[in-house]
Amino acid sequence: MLRSALLAASRSPQVRTMVEKFPPTHAIVERFVAGDRLDQGVSATETLVSSGRKVTLDHLGEDTKDAEQAAATALAYEHLLTALKETGLAADAEVSVKLSAVGQFLPVDGEKIALENARRICQAAADAGTTVTLDMEDHTTTDSTLGIARELRADFPWLGVVLQAYLRRTEADCRDLAHEGSRVRICKGAYKEPESVAFQGKREVDLAYVRALKVLMAGQGYPMVASHDPNMIKIAGQLAEWNRRDVTSFEYQMLFGIRPEEQLRLAEAGNTMRVYLPYGQEWYGYFMRRLAERPANLTFFLRAMATR
Ligand code: FDA
Repeated sequence: MLRSALLAASRSPQVRTMVEKFPPTHAIVERFVAGDRLDQGVSATETLVSSGRKVTLDHLGEDTKDAEQAAATALAYEHLLTALKETGLAADAEVSVKLSAVGQFLPVDGEKIALENARRICQAAADAGTTVTLDMEDHTTTDSTLGIARELRADFPWLGVVLQAYLRRTEADCRDLAHEGSRVRICKGAYKEPESVAFQGKREVDLAYVRALKVLMAGQGYPMVASHDPNMIKIAGQLAEWNRRDVTSFEYQMLFGIRPEEQLRLAEAGNTMRVYLPYGQEWYGYFMRRLAERPANLTFFLRAMATR
């Protein structure tokens, strides 16, 4: 119930205006977001990289209905990638992109515009010597996102894509994408989805995550294990061993601000550990999904609002 309400609120302009007006939320938002500006994203990247972790940066934004904003987001990524190149961070930091932030939902030619904007970002990443991973949004976008990824891979074969284990289709998508050179970030899934397309309970989703991991670890691609769940992390390690995978042939990923000690433990054990690091002003949707994932975050948030 609470999760559903928070996920509905994540897409409500009225609740968004109310939450954004609350000054103390900034302190709480900072737990999950590096800051409003590019230099804060770069500086947080430097700190993470100096501790042995890799990074994937997200210039926050989603669901735009404005072509100019979509183009501005692509430009912001180009600036970010130039900054990563100039600071020497591109070897350790890539970027993650939501296609809805670069035009996928525009009423006219949305997919075409998103493809062209994403192509600009991929070209900037190639120039900087790093990679791009496409985030996955709600299930109505899955076919479109995988289609755009397919087109981009013709020119940028290193392009990664996210799959969400809670979707019933995902095991089959994992099979399609478990080929050589394919980078797949497997996560549980963060949106409110109907039962017709997605598993609903934690146990069912966890089992689906393990099935997806089995396919990806047995395949020829590069699995990116995006989870904070100790069981999933343990099983991923065992599957890697059973499939005789070298530690360089897969990686672990977690969100900025969540289980940082475990991030360091995995990195110190010799694994590639990448942190998903968001920055920018459009933190609302991202932040609300983090609240929905864990009721304790909501208690923390409400307590801070009450004591402002
Ligand atoms: P689960 O939710 O079962 O949590 C396991 C444990 O992790 C919890 O018990 C708690 O200790 C900790 N934890 C999890 N979430 C927390 C939170 N918000 N705050 C504090 N602690 C928390 N989703 C999506 O739909 N599309 C996408 O593109 C992405 N991209 C993505 C990239 C990366 C790198 C990660 C790590 C995750 C995503 N996600 C995502 C989000 C993902 O789908 C999922 O919602 C969260 O990762 C939470 O699921 P867990 O696997 O961590 O397990």
